[in-house]
Amino acid sequence: MKTAVYPGSFDPITNGHLDIIRRGTRLFDRVIVAVLENEEKRALFQVPERLELLRASTKDLSSVEIHSFSGLLVNFLHRVDANVVVRGIRAVSDFEYEFQMALMNRELSPDTETIFMMPAVEYSYVSSRLVKEVFRLGGDISSLVPAVVLEKLRSRVPIATGR
Ligand code: PNS
Repeated sequence: MKTAVYPGSFDPITNGHLDIIRRGTRLFDRVIVAVLENEEKRALFQVPERLELLRASTKDLSSVEIHSFSGLLVNFLHRVDANVVVRGIRAVSDFEYEFQMALMNRELSPDTETIFMMPAVEYSYVSSRLVKEVFRLGGDISSLVPAVVLEKLRSRVPIATGR
């Protein structure tokens, strides 16, 4: 049984993340989406809300599990008996940071392999940060996030009206 861990902040999940998760399910028997519990980072959604949005968005994918973790990713990998990390790469600009993380994880745990996957072209510019910003400013993000995320944003984030 081959397990991959797809870690991230997922604040909130976008269709780009979902695309990577779906692609991961074609390669691995089990895909564990792991949300980092990071107290320092200013997040819009609390971790339990992010987990709920991830679960709702992946409910049709039986091989996907949603977890949260704190501390080192490699320790989480050992706990769930996995040695593969999946990360999405949208553009060359993502690469440097991802390359550093992959090599650091390999240094910490030499049997860890990181697999980089490209999302569908239509999501290559989508990020959680931009989606939140565009929503706040009244832009249409309905094609960029799962419906549950859009609903949650509508109930949570006031839309700023420009002049
Ligand atoms: O979605 P993000 O914020 O780019 O995800 C970053 C994440 C969660 C993958 C990364 O910050 C992480 O793995 N944090 C856990 C702490 C850790 O293991 N750090 C050392 C590895 S470089």
